[in-house]
Amino acid sequence: LWPLIIAVIGGYLLGSVPFGLVLTRMAGLGDVRQIGSGNIGATNVLRTGNKPLALATLILDSGKGAAATLIAGALLGPGAAIAAAGASVLGHLFPVWLGFKGGKGVATGLGVLLALNWQIGLIACAAWLLLALVTRFSSLAALAAFAAAPIACLLLARPGLATPGPAMAGVALFVAVLVFIRHRGNIRRLLDGTEPRIGRKSDKPG
Ligand code: G3P
Repeated sequence: LWPLIIAVIGGYLLGSVPFGLVLTRMAGLGDVRQIGSGNIGATNVLRTGNKPLALATLILDSGKGAAATLIAGALLGPGAAIAAAGASVLGHLFPVWLGFKGGKGVATGLGVLLALNWQIGLIACAAWLLLALVTRFSSLAALAAFAAAPIACLLLARPGLATPGPAMAGVALFVAVLVFIRHRGNIRRLLDGTEPRIGRKSDKPG
């Protein structure tokens, strides 16, 4: 049991590092929670107008999820990798440092999926990219990506093959449920027609 407990604690702590907030503060751009959607993720960091900073947030937020998963897997085994994967997403969503008010889990979730099973991760990233390019809605792209991941697990699962496997499908579903719950406001805005497109502070014309 100890390896799992260590993986959960380590994964949570790594996942709870709010890179978007840290980077925007370091760049002298203030508190990212005061702008746009108020989220600490890369999409909202982009609303500061600083593209490299948004890209760095995306890479670091994905990287922490991937790192937690890979480190736990290498040191403690496959069960610990799964535990660290889930815990790192929970860490990003509910960081103790920010009064448990964290991000929406998109970048961290993608990092976790890529680290656990690169095929499933790639399918989710491709779905995100496709929807983001076509619709310019980061949130809609995220919803599509995380809906696609568990479905891809089911479609790619083969009897006798470990990958993707039920554990992978379980993690993909777990992360998808969390991502959907965290995007409730975005879903409402998408339905209202008030969700801003990528790079825009609001969806006003012009
Ligand atoms: O990364 C989260 C994204 O899907 C939505 O972000 O800031 O537009 O709510 P935001």
